[in-house]
Amino acid sequence: MCGIVGYIGESDAKEILLKGLERLEYRGYDSAGIAVRNTDGVTVFKEKGRIADLRAEVDLNVEAVTGIGHTRWATHGVPNHVNAHPHQSTTERFTLVHNGVIENYHHLQRDYLEGVEMQSDTDTEIIVQLIERFSKQGLSTREAFTKTLELLKGSYALALLDAEEAQTIYVAKNKSPLLVGLGEEFNVVASDAMAMLQVTDQFVELMDKEIVIVNKESVEIYTLEGERIHRQPFTAEIDMNDIEKGTYPHYMLKEIDEQPAVVRRIIQNYQDENDELTIEQDVLEALKQADRLYIIAAGTSYHAGLIGKEYIEKMAQIPVEVHIASEFGYNMPLLSEKPLFIFISQSGETADSRQVLVKVKELGHPALTITNVAGSTLSREADYTLLLHAGPEIAVASTKAYTAQLAVMAILSSVTAKAKGIDIGFDLEQELSIAANAIQTQVDDKENMEDIAREYLAVTRNCFFIGRNVDYYVGLEGALKLKEISYIQAEGFAGGELKHGTIALIEEGTPVIALATQEAVNLNIRGNVKEVAARGAYPCIISMEGLAEEGDRLVLPRVHELLTPIVSVIPLQLISYYAALHRDCDVDKPRNLAKSVTVE
Ligand code: F6R
Repeated sequence: MCGIVGYIGESDAKEILLKGLERLEYRGYDSAGIAVRNTDGVTVFKEKGRIADLRAEVDLNVEAVTGIGHTRWATHGVPNHVNAHPHQSTTERFTLVHNGVIENYHHLQRDYLEGVEMQSDTDTEIIVQLIERFSKQGLSTREAFTKTLELLKGSYALALLDAEEAQTIYVAKNKSPLLVGLGEEFNVVASDAMAMLQVTDQFVELMDKEIVIVNKESVEIYTLEGERIHRQPFTAEIDMNDIEKGTYPHYMLKEIDEQPAVVRRIIQNYQDENDELTIEQDVLEALKQADRLYIIAAGTSYHAGLIGKEYIEKMAQIPVEVHIASEFGYNMPLLSEKPLFIFISQSGETADSRQVLVKVKELGHPALTITNVAGSTLSREADYTLLLHAGPEIAVASTKAYTAQLAVMAILSSVTAKAKGIDIGFDLEQELSIAANAIQTQVDDKENMEDIAREYLAVTRNCFFIGRNVDYYVGLEGALKLKEISYIQAEGFAGGELKHGTIALIEEGTPVIALATQEAVNLNIRGNVKEVAARGAYPCIISMEGLAEEGDRLVLPRVHELLTPIVSVIPLQLISYYAALHRDCDVDKPRNLAKSVTVE
């Protein structure tokens, strides 16, 4: 949700900033801008639209070795040229980029900025105007920046240029992620290490409420009270191949294809020296101590959580509740005596989940984060972390992170079961390997998936997904995938629930994608398919070997019943992908969305 970059050194800042923003485009893509500083002062280029649109606007003749940049997902103010970052103070002395949301910006404007004419509708402009106001009152830039930070309520990652100070970028953060990257004769700033990997793999993590002074040769970190902090850099272990599309037309397709390898990698990463599945002892203890688990997540991760509940309850026999993060924090249910909270989040940055984590920590309860991003906010702030090992997920629609979440939760459940002396009755490691092979057969069957997308979704305006038991939860995810990238109105329903109202929406030709992978409810879901077909629906049944019937459109290889979601979601991802492609949608960057949702 917005990404920022900064560069100070000896090379062409424009190119480094633009490249960095291209890598951060997944965080928001409705407008973008850069500001570069040279002996003539600060020059701002900004544009509504994608980084490619910004690139076309940048005057290549402007030479500069210092600059900041921003890619935006609009929160305050519509996405247009004026509201695009960087923002400047009235005299244009100060120039700022901001990722986050300032909650008290109205009050700050009223209390401190009377008479200042605002150029944009953004909360960000308030920050840069405040810095100018305090500077005019005689404070140094660092003092004015610090005083402003002390007043801000909300989330921010900020990079500030002062036209009168060529050698410095001022940086600070609160709740929003921000790193400083270190180089020889240069330093960089980025919301995500990925943005600057082309120039360095050495990064220093910044903490909330610090002020950082970045020069070409040095990076100085201070508390807001002025105390110097020394922090060691870490090496970003991201393979450049993981963040390039390679020969794929879209990241989403690449990430769908990576899923068999991701499941196999997870098995390896969670094996001990005897090749037995394992999780860290302290996580295991926390799980064993808990009398109830509360899974908190949003979107696709919430859908994974619903299946995680099945795994944990069926294998480890611990009661689980699954909650939508944005609801839970403001309407907390009665908690059990010894709760353990599990936060599931691909990015580890989702603000809706974080607000729950903050409250949970205030209440003194333990928390485990399951995330793809080591060192992410949710990981740092929880007591324990389990990593997904899925590699960077760049397409906005989540695919491989979802299957990774399921695989990790299956492992967590089986290891906990074993530690509790419960026999789950099957070898999870072996069954996960079988599931990885079954995923491979699906990703290899793309032509068929494309045919299904063409046959069922080429012209329709809506589509329903039905299933029972875990198939219902997979249907929810299938519907989310389809709507977010193809803009087809899609909804997932429990098969038996349709007749209680939703069946009224079935018309002649309405596509209904039915999942039939669960033996206990196979006859029931087929009955539900007949009900909709009798009312004109055009059903597409996806079943599994052993349960298949004539006329099923797709039959998945047989896998353990609990693991069917890891496999049955693959055709739904691919069908959505091809539906979006046929409708000429921007698959990797669907409208109105951003990858990491860092605002509540
Ligand atoms: C959908 C999707 C979103 C995310 C949601 C939570 O494809 O990606 O629904 O799942 O925004 O994000 P994380 O998992 O990063 O907390």
